[in-house]
Amino acid sequence: MQTSTRNSVLLERSRTAVWHPCTQMKQHETLPIVPIARAQGCWLYDCDGKRYLDAISSWWVNLFGHAEPRINAALTDQLQRLEHVMLAGFTHEPVVELSERLSALTGGALGHCFYGSDGASATEIALKMSFHYWRNCGRTEKTEFISLAGSYHGETLGALSVTDVALFKDTYAPLLRHSAQVPSPDWRLADAGASPRDHALRCAQALERHLEQHHAGTAALIVEPLVQGATGMAMYDAEYLRQARALCDRYEVHLIADEIMTGFGRTGTFFAHEQSAITPDFLCLSKGITGGYLPLSVVLTRDAVYQAFYDEAVTRGFLHSHSYTGNALACRAALATLDIFEQDGVIEANRGKAQRMTAAAKALAEHPRVRNFRSTGMIWAFEVDAADTTFSRRFFAAALSRELLLRPIGNTVYFMPPYVISDAEMELLAARTREALDATP
Ligand SMILES: Cc1ncc(COP(=O)(O)O)c(C=O)c1O
Repeated sequence: MQTSTRNSVLLERSRTAVWHPCTQMKQHETLPIVPIARAQGCWLYDCDGKRYLDAISSWWVNLFGHAEPRINAALTDQLQRLEHVMLAGFTHEPVVELSERLSALTGGALGHCFYGSDGASATEIALKMSFHYWRNCGRTEKTEFISLAGSYHGETLGALSVTDVALFKDTYAPLLRHSAQVPSPDWRLADAGASPRDHALRCAQALERHLEQHHAGTAALIVEPLVQGATGMAMYDAEYLRQARALCDRYEVHLIADEIMTGFGRTGTFFAHEQSAITPDFLCLSKGITGGYLPLSVVLTRDAVYQAFYDEAVTRGFLHSHSYTGNALACRAALATLDIFEQDGVIEANRGKAQRMTAAAKALAEHPRVRNFRSTGMIWAFEVDAADTTFSRRFFAAALSRELLLRPIGNTVYFMPPYVISDAEMELLAARTREALDATP
């Protein structure tokens, strides 16, 4: 591998050879790509030695910092044993142990794990599995899906069909199958005087009206529990999930919990749906599952769903695969991640950390241009009164020049730092965000 020592060299080579994701590449004529040479803890270092606090955990994947010694050691060990074997017809210790431990984390309610690679592949698996379950049960009319307004479930065609973010969806609309959207319980949309819970109940009534009419043809409702990320960190009351669970039961519709972002402690409990004391029929996990090291996703489901596929007929089996399904290295990174949760009492420790971050951000929350300052677990977000639609890009650059990696969604700024962020780093994050805000009218 060639090594480029200077930022300028690597970013030019990258612009020439790499098509970067979620990007209008022409914008990089004025907003340079950031070439990262190494990373440690919460910090990324570019090729010229400048550092950036990874305040969004590298697209929400990193949990315990970069170059985490225990995950590094587990991967080094695994490399000496088995890097990968196909999972069709074969199995290995890391995938078996991971499946057992993930199932145990659902109290055994979701007894089987089906693996994919990225988050979007988990969404695809859950949608196909729900449809195929109903088909195997003789309910061939159940072909439709429901999602929440503003939802994001990934950008492959099936996942994009249940996503509701215009920027990602509109261009590709002719390629997508129809899905229905019901009102979002996002508490920012509550009527004046209504509490987040009141709003959640109103939205649940809207879901009920939809299901009354369409349940016969509906396979599943897919939701991002408690926080709708990509639409702008929309947060909502746990009551909505309780109501949604009851309605799905009443109308014989699956509930898919897309915890690709919210899983692994992000919302303050290991899984966000725990806060509603419900169990989904399908649970999609990815991102933090490997501590942010390797692509891995999984769909957990009930044994009853699994049993509906268990048959002599091949076509009643779940006919879906990816080459890297259940990759041994990725599973081992996931096991090391689960070990850290246990060894370091992460969920409990994060409670105190979240309070300290909220306290550190007090002056920011009271900034005259900041609206709807909010948090759930280890996620903080707020809207900014901004002059125009270029705010996001201008703020990104202003933050970068103050050693912060922050990537607003429209005029929503959010923090989703690695859990190992220190008190000093939290203070720095809050203070420099305020400076970046003042520098971005
Ligand atoms: C809730 C949710 N679902 C699905 C996805 C898609 O995951 P991936 O980008 O790994 O395909 C994301 C990504 O941000 C997400 O936040």
